[in-house]
Amino acid sequence: MNRVRHALVVGGSGMLAGLSRSLLDIGDRVSVLARSAHRVRAIAPTLEPVICDYNDATALAEALRDLPPPGLVVAWIHGRAPELRRALASRVVPGGRFVQVLGSAHGDPSHPERLSEMAAATESLPITYQAVVLGFVVEAHGSRWLTHEEISTGVFRAIMADVPLGIVGTVEPWSARP
Ligand SMILES: NC(=O)c1ccc[n+]([C@@H]2O[C@H](COP(=O)([O-])OP(=O)(O)OC[C@H]3O[C@@H](n4cnc5c(N)ncnc54)[C@H](OP(=O)(O)O)[C@@H]3O)[C@@H](O)[C@H]2O)c1
Repeated sequence: MNRVRHALVVGGSGMLAGLSRSLLDIGDRVSVLARSAHRVRAIAPTLEPVICDYNDATALAEALRDLPPPGLVVAWIHGRAPELRRALASRVVPGGRFVQVLGSAHGDPSHPERLSEMAAATESLPITYQAVVLGFVVEAHGSRWLTHEEISTGVFRAIMADVPLGIVGTVEPWSARP
């Protein structure tokens, strides 16, 4: 991943706080879209809060209109939300990248359609698409979910590695998930 003029992390003030901070190393400007400005500023004073409820399409359009188009958008969004995902992907500059962080259900081998449904957000757009699935960790006496630090570090590594599909932790064997 080359240096970007503007990176936008949607939902980047919770478990992805570490990712938002890391992106300051490769982005001239890094914005974080969330409802609480306070949580964004608490991560790093140089992160720019973009405050809106992403479920409010009008508020989202206004918030995005006031921003320079990003070369990189990382989206961590609840629910299927196809219109929201498409609206975000559509804002990425041509040649830029749209990264979706997806819950472990997208790694279920018996439901490959879940990943293709998410990829539809970038259909026919002149941008690169990347999915990063959050898996789990298998240990000697069982398995556990990822920590926030593991999630942020793993998503940042996947972005830097340019892989179309990144898995943080593992999704195999699927039967071992916590
Ligand atoms: N496989 C896995 O390991 C896995 C997968 C998925 C989730 N998890 C776990 O699930 C936990 C909870 O995840 P989470 O997504 O609830 O929490 P989160 O990542 O801690 O927070 C969600 C992020 O989205 C923002 N947000 C939420 N709703 C929004 C809205 N309507 N409009 C704009 N921004 C919005 C939040 O900021 P504001 O609240 O300020 O809006 C925040 O930045 C995490 O702690 C993680 O460990 C684990």
